[in-house]
Amino acid sequence: MDRVKVLTWEKISLVVPEKEDIKLWYVWVNDIETQSYLGSMYGEIITIEDEEDYYDSIRKDTSTKLFCIYTEESKKLIWNVSLMWIDYKNRKAELWIAIFDKEQQNKWYGTESIKLMLKYAFEVLWLNKVNLRFVEFNKRAQKVYEKIWFKQVGRLTKEIFVWWKYYDDILMEIFAEDFIK
Ligand SMILES: CC(C)(COP(=O)(O)OP(=O)(O)OC[C@H]1O[C@@H](n2cnc3c(N)ncnc32)[C@H](O)[C@@H]1OP(=O)(O)O)[C@@H](O)C(=O)NCCC(=O)NCCS
Repeated sequence: MDRVKVLTWEKISLVVPEKEDIKLWYVWVNDIETQSYLGSMYGEIITIEDEEDYYDSIRKDTSTKLFCIYTEESKKLIWNVSLMWIDYKNRKAELWIAIFDKEQQNKWYGTESIKLMLKYAFEVLWLNKVNLRFVEFNKRAQKVYEKIWFKQVGRLTKEIFVWWKYYDDILMEIFAEDFIK
């Protein structure tokens, strides 16, 4: 069956997650190198049942919106982008993204996915602000966020322990009025 596309740009679509996707998530989410970019997830061992529980929890949780990222070129999923802890009263949320398929990184899919997610956040959910955090050594993520006009607003020092060393977590945010499509 074709995937249900909610938003589409040139290279990618944000599609509705399906239970079958768990098999793919389960393989990718245990990749320790990519986990190191995700801060607190580093070193976790995640079973297929954990992924099923996660799928069920996000399906029922109105404060989370998760889309799988689907590339128009390969017709495959490369993983997901989500809005977490959506706060409808204060109109804000935190953005998470991970392209776990390493062959599909550095192809602008991340940039397009984040822009589409921001469009969804600001124009569909009517949020006012989206924030995010990244580990200081994740220079690629930093480049993408700066390119999209996220502004750095803080730094939690020695927050994340990865590969035998502590690293800072950097906080960024973007307001609806600063979002350039
Ligand atoms: C971070 C991530 C979302 C970026 O998406 P992507 O599709 O790979 O990135 P894009 O191709 O859209 O853009 C990458 C940009 O970073 C640049 N870049 C790549 N590696 C870099 C590095 N080591 N240092 C600085 N810039 C770098 C690229 O040149 C490109 O900039 P440009 O468009 O000006 O040429 C994706 O790589 C990913 O999910 N990585 C693993 C998990 C992760 O880090 N998630 C974020 C957690 S906060």
